[in-house]
Amino acid sequence: MKELILSKFAEVFGDAEGAKTYFAPGRVNLIGEHTDYNGGHVFPCALTIGTYGVARKRNDSKLRFYSMNFPGRGMIESSLEDLKPYKEANWTNYPKGVMWAFEQRGMKLPCGMDLLLNGTIPNGSGLSSSASVEVLTGYILRDFFDFQVSNQDLALIGQYSENNFNGVNCGIMDQFAIAMGKKDNAIFLDTATLQYEYAPIKLEGAKIVIASSNKKRGLGDSKYNERRSECETALAELQKVTPIKSLGELTEEDFAKYESAIGSEVRRRRAKHAVYENQRTVQAVEALGNNDVERFGQLMNASHVSLRDDYEVTGIELDTLVEEAWKVPGVIGSRMTGAGFGGCTVSIVKEEAIDNFIETVGKAYQEKIGYAADFYVVEVGDGPRIL
Ligand code: GLA
Repeated sequence: MKELILSKFAEVFGDAEGAKTYFAPGRVNLIGEHTDYNGGHVFPCALTIGTYGVARKRNDSKLRFYSMNFPGRGMIESSLEDLKPYKEANWTNYPKGVMWAFEQRGMKLPCGMDLLLNGTIPNGSGLSSSASVEVLTGYILRDFFDFQVSNQDLALIGQYSENNFNGVNCGIMDQFAIAMGKKDNAIFLDTATLQYEYAPIKLEGAKIVIASSNKKRGLGDSKYNERRSECETALAELQKVTPIKSLGELTEEDFAKYESAIGSEVRRRRAKHAVYENQRTVQAVEALGNNDVERFGQLMNASHVSLRDDYEVTGIELDTLVEEAWKVPGVIGSRMTGAGFGGCTVSIVKEEAIDNFIETVGKAYQEKIGYAADFYVVEVGDGPRIL
């Protein structure tokens, strides 16, 4: 890969003298969905697929970008004097947003750069290609200009840029999972405090299989922001009867006690998901620690049901993938992962059952939905690095 991206860099930008190569992973969340903006727990891990980058400092303030994933867009130019989001700037709004966020924090960029990217995360699959580009960019800036920022800061800067430059009100999970990734471990993160622990993923002869629905998200981002504000309203209603800072502070029992303070049935279900999903995540990590993979799988399944019925972020494509997966022998657990509305599912499947899983679920999906799903057997990898 290193040779490939360096030679493409030379082709696009003239030569590759002095250019450096980098990598940042994608992520998949095993459990703890739509809890990160509710002060709850999440349990994601970094993947060995991700974003490869080649970067080189310039003598002026120009920025030149090229993505091997969008060759048709050619080279996209900008400059440090113009760090603003433009629709036509397309994917370059992600690296530009991170540059802007560094400057917002008082870290002025002394010069521009040429940047080439090549992502191995399937496009639009919900495995956080944008957060991967953000963390990669932050990592490059730190390496180039010796900024005193930790990997956790890189995650926060990435999230800040996504919220304030790119207008998506996401939580901290994706950028954190990517910036702090560790091979063969998932990250048990308390999003209220940012305290975290690594948990070895011991799946006892099973693997993580991602199924991409190939449904483009489209409306997803606005629905995402809608769910967020439903939860915020529910929280404000609950705060009239109990002094909590976030939904993540409630147990199931607390919720039963106070839920009548929430003024609509829909908002009650949204808040219920946030509370129960948080508790499920804590239990799932405990189960994994006890080598109880079966229990972990059951909690994944319960997570999907809650996202389908109470949070309503699944849709026929994700439901079909998951409900078909549940029927296949050797599937330990299966659920939608990420924001939902499209994107992909994550399943834990016994190794000997994987071929049958892909064939059976793939066939049922094609028949019901009318187009194919894609399947990836993934490995859990490290965070960002120089290649
Ligand atoms: C997206 C967001 C995350 C998180 C998930 C849902 O991936 O970027 O912050 O909220 O959705 O769990």
